[in-house]
Order: sequence, then structure tokens, then C-alpha cells
Amino acid sequence: MKVLLAGGAGYIGSHTCIELVNAGFEPVIVDDFANSSPIAVKRIEEITGRKIRLYTIDVCNEEELEKVFKENEIGSIVHFAGYKAVGESVKLPLKYYRNNLDSTFALLSLCEKYDVNSFIFSSSATVYGMSEDVPYHEDLPTGCLNPYGWTKYMNEQILRDYAKVHPSFSTVLLRYFNPIGAHESGLIGDNPEGIPNNLMPYVCQVASGKLEKLHIFGNDYPTPDGTGVRDYLHVVDLAKGHVKAIDYSIENKGSIEINLGTGIGYSVLDVVNSFEKANGIKIPYVIDGRRPGDNATSYADPSRANKLLGWKAEKTIVDMCKDAWNWQKNNPRGYKE
Ligand code: UD1
Repeated sequence: MKVLLAGGAGYIGSHTCIELVNAGFEPVIVDDFANSSPIAVKRIEEITGRKIRLYTIDVCNEEELEKVFKENEIGSIVHFAGYKAVGESVKLPLKYYRNNLDSTFALLSLCEKYDVNSFIFSSSATVYGMSEDVPYHEDLPTGCLNPYGWTKYMNEQILRDYAKVHPSFSTVLLRYFNPIGAHESGLIGDNPEGIPNNLMPYVCQVASGKLEKLHIFGNDYPTPDGTGVRDYLHVVDLAKGHVKAIDYSIENKGSIEINLGTGIGYSVLDVVNSFEKANGIKIPYVIDGRRPGDNATSYADPSRANKLLGWKAEKTIVDMCKDAWNWQKNNPRGYKE
């Protein structure tokens, strides 16, 4: 079965592409490389030993996107395409709303036209907002703090509404917690532009000497060591969750929200200590003030994924730290040659 991966050259998309090949699916990547690199696709081919069908198209461009549906019998869609920098989304809300919603409209309108009935969406734990009701389970009320988060929230709603009036349609709204790590080959991984916003890429750049020290955003949270607690999961585990979600969507109709997380919370200092132990590298840090919009503790109740998808994260925080560093060490400039 052919699976269209919208934004398939990105961090999570590229890892998912590999797991789809491993599971016998035929991925078709659509990506305009706005925030990714064609080299990632070459690396996927190196890892899988397969030629990957690639369309260099902006997913928002419905006219061009139609070509993909005409030339391939698409059985399922995984929609990863979207801007994801929280801070930028606050400054440029229109850019975020337009891009992150138009891509969904284009894909859904072609689903309607070409009768594609399986749609997996990259949502985020960000839809739980500042809830302190941990662990987060899928039935908690949702609400967001920034335009990036609202685009996830709105896309979920658009997909739920579409599913209501298309009885053959099935959509799985995957709420990711904090994906980190990289493929064990060290050939693909997270490749942020400029100074990283997220913790693990930042730690990796400190380890490599590119950045001087880590700035820990607050140590006065009501957590065991005062630093923020998150549910970090290995990107390969996350990728496997998508394969399970496709299987589920083929057998079940309607819409469902599913958390993908380990169910375990680690603090910023836990991550620093694990990284130091796993890789034998010291990470110098300073404590700064809290980052606006961060909450104290976020981790998943992953029981729905376990029950409905038969999915469970398997890799440990040590695996995550080792693989993240292996990728960074082998590719100090990311995909830039
Ligand atoms: C962030 C986004 C979230 C998005 C997710 C995935 C914010 C507020 N949230 O989640 O919407 O879905 O990334 O891209 O940006 N930290 C430091 N120093 C750093 C970086 C992070 O101390 O340099 C701390 C943070 O305060 C937090 C933890 O590390 O406690 C994890 O941060 P991060 O990796 O940015 O993820 P989230 O904020 O959970």
C-alpha cells in the first residue's frame, strides 16, 4: 500500500519513512524542503536500500499536489508538514495559520476527490496547554498557548469534523510528547536551523563545543529537582507508532486522539545527567529564568496507544542520549555537506 508522507523529509517523517519500508509499505514523500533537506531522503535510501518516491511540492499547493494522487494510488496519508517554532509562531501568526491549515485543506480536499480514507495527523501534547492534571490522558480538556499549538488544535478539529460526514474515513490524531534521539545508523536525525529551541539538540551542540553552555529555563518548578519535567521518547519508537496507527485506521472508522509518549517524566537535570553518563561528556549549564509558556510537568498516559494500537515505547533515556549524540557527532553541520 502506498502511503503519502506530507513533510516526509523532516525529523519525524524521515524516521517514519524507514519504519514504513520495514513494515512493507510503499512511502511517497511530498516535501518542499522549507525546513528539511533532500539529503535526508538520500540517507533514507541508503538505510533501507530502496529508492523512495519523492515529489518536491509545497503541500499547500493543491493544484500541484493533485499530481501525486493522479500518479499514485494512495491508501493512507501521514501529515507531518508544518512549521513548528513556537516563538516564531507568536511573532508571525498568519504564516503559521496559513501554512499549517492550508496543507490540511489541500490534503483533505484531495482525499475527498480520490477517495482516500486513512489519515494520520502529527498533533502534539501542546494541545493540553498548561494543564497540571498529569499524566495527560486524551479526554482532558484542550486549549493552547501560542499559534503553533492552536494550529495543532484546529487541525484536529477539522479532521474530526471531516470524519463525521465521511463515514468511510478514519483519522488518528497522534499527540506526540517530546521526541528526541535519532536513527541508530547516525545517518538521519533532528536538524534545527540556527540555535536550537528544544532541549536535546541544544545539549548536543553544547557537547560538540558549538555552544558554550546549556541554559536551564528555571529551577523553581514544583518538581523533584525544580527543573521542568517532560516525557521524552525515542523518535524511532514514535515512528513505529505511525505504522501501528495506519494499521488501526484501515480497520476502524471515525476519529480518535492517541498520545504517543513513554508515560515517564524526566527533568531537565535528569536529561543532562543521562547524557553525561551515556556519552562520557560533561555538559556545563547555568540556571536562567523560566521560559514563558513552559509548564512544570508534562507526561503521557500512554494506555490508549497500548490498548488500541498495541504500541509501547521500548527505548530508554540512555538509548535516546546515545543516538542523539551519535547523529550530532557524525553530522556536526546537520545535512549541510
Ligand atoms: C516544545 C514546545 C512544544 C512543541 C515541542 C516539540 C515550547 C513552549 N513548547 O516543547 O509546543 O510541541 O517543543 O517541538 O516551546 N529547556 C531548557 N533549556 C533549553 C531548552 C529547553 O531548560 O535550552 C527545558 C524547557 O524549559 C522544558 C524542557 O527543557 O522544561 C523541554 O523543552 P523543549 O525541548 O523545548 O520541549 P517543550 O517545551 O516541552
